[in-house]
Amino acid sequence: MLDAGGQYCHLIARKVRELGVYAEVQPSDTPVCRLAGRKALIISGGPSSVYELGSPTVDPEIFRTGAGVLGICYGHQLMVHLLGGVVERGEQGEYGVATLEVHTPGELFADTEPRQQIWMSHRDLVTAPPPSFSVLAGTSTCPIAAMGDAERRLYGVQFHPEVIHTPRGKDLLANFLFRVCGCARDWNPSHQIPHLEEEIRAAAGDRNVFFFVSGGVDSTVAYLLCLRALGPGRVRGVYVDTGLMREGETETVEQMFASLAAGTVTVEHARDRFLRALEGVVEPERKRQIIGAEFLRVQERAAETWHLLDGHWVLGQGTIYPDTIESGGTKQAATIKTHHNRVEGVRRLIEEGRLVEPLHSFYKDEVREIGKLLGVSPDWLDRHPFPGPGLAIRCLCSEADLPFSRRQEGWVMPVHSVGVQGDSRSYAPVLALDRPADAEAKAAATNLINRLSGFNRVVALAASHAPLAAMRVHASAMCEIRLERLRQADAAVRRISRASGFDTRIWQFPVVLIPAGTDDRPDSVVLRPVDSVDGMTAESVLMPESLLRTVAEALLALPGVSAVFFDLTNKPPATIEWE
Ligand code: XMP
Repeated sequence: MLDAGGQYCHLIARKVRELGVYAEVQPSDTPVCRLAGRKALIISGGPSSVYELGSPTVDPEIFRTGAGVLGICYGHQLMVHLLGGVVERGEQGEYGVATLEVHTPGELFADTEPRQQIWMSHRDLVTAPPPSFSVLAGTSTCPIAAMGDAERRLYGVQFHPEVIHTPRGKDLLANFLFRVCGCARDWNPSHQIPHLEEEIRAAAGDRNVFFFVSGGVDSTVAYLLCLRALGPGRVRGVYVDTGLMREGETETVEQMFASLAAGTVTVEHARDRFLRALEGVVEPERKRQIIGAEFLRVQERAAETWHLLDGHWVLGQGTIYPDTIESGGTKQAATIKTHHNRVEGVRRLIEEGRLVEPLHSFYKDEVREIGKLLGVSPDWLDRHPFPGPGLAIRCLCSEADLPFSRRQEGWVMPVHSVGVQGDSRSYAPVLALDRPADAEAKAAATNLINRLSGFNRVVALAASHAPLAAMRVHASAMCEIRLERLRQADAAVRRISRASGFDTRIWQFPVVLIPAGTDDRPDSVVLRPVDSVDGMTAESVLMPESLLRTVAEALLALPGVSAVFFDLTNKPPATIEWE
């Protein structure tokens, strides 16, 4: 995968691996000498235009190595640009579902239908293919939506075969890999365990590994791998109780590690430090930086306690492959959010060669497969993901009292949340609709964000003690009272969602506290159930009406809670977490 800056780059690589072919993501301009032996090269999409100065490019020699090349979206345009065709600036762009007419199936569209649904997201347009290429398929607005030069094994598609809205996309990728490039179906993550153990031993050398476990799938599996590779005497697990955990989490994690008889896992109580450091902080990126730095301080202190400060230890982390891209970890991608395992202190450890991340090249579903073989129970492996910075990024704060403002479409809540639009980060106020959280509201939300500028998220008011007109944003800090309020809200939602079976239908269910309400009930709760495959894109999942009513009643019974909102926004344009 040659990464030209697309947020979907990993999604493509993961799909390729799901097809049983090992794939790696490399910067788009990786010189051809470092791509020797690769059978298939895929150039990803990206936010740039091929005509812009400094836009991502590829080594043009890749078209002459004999490997098959598939350009997707920007990658398709780049191939055209470099090989002598014409790319033009589109008038208005095309975003969403379209119908593809395949007139020359060739190997790329072999065994698929002549008319198929595809998903488009582009502004520029190919208006003439390079010489020797034939046009294979088009849509009503994009006549050159797929092209190929079968002899040289070069193909380009304007649409995105990697997203679910292109139902035959995986078949297209399979045709490219197996028919065009002759790849073998021989990648199986669970066969990698001995190799991973070897890698851990090589990275650690004669040093010990100090591991922060969070109770999440990734850090649990990475820790168990280190334990297998080095033995219990050389691995120490530390679970930090940051005070930002969900209800009962610390106890559950302790029990899980005890049941796995998994070496020494110590609990570090650091609640006061984290809360003090976060006092008065509103901006999400600052919160994330502070939490990351605080994690390292706790680690340094613990290392001192166990005399591990003499350069004789390395830090282990459960970072997985996609964790690196949204932190700006690949060359072309914009920083959407800093994950706590990529803050500056950790970057320093990487430079000093003091970091072991056994799962850094794996995807979540592959980590689950490895975990299963290591004896982790399916219940634990199927837990919804929970972010490292914990409830801190779900407890929104405000420096000032601010009124809501009325506009034709709804109410503007001056609470900012993070989004990802056009492959870049946004931080914008929220639009609240005074209507039920149903399918119509969801469709309206998508339209509103496309039509109005300045918003990345739309919520519906599900239930409240007071009308929106009587609410405002209150100056609020991160404090124990509000965190406890959020903890109780989260626990109530989890209890009800689990009992109803709803939690098995979704990928994750963040519950967010926002400082919006009335004077006697200053906060509100936002429900954010989403479906996703790997967190890179996500869809808001509506709740059955009666379930939403039960949840809302439980939440409105909590002290300090004014209203319950339902987040209607997909990712993109919003992110899953609000901060
Ligand atoms: P976003 O909010 O970026 O979230 O759409 C995508 C997925 O990543 C999780 N997330 C994190 N996980 N450390 C983590 O371990 C973090 O700092 C972090 N931030 C977000 C989020 O819960 C979702 O599953």
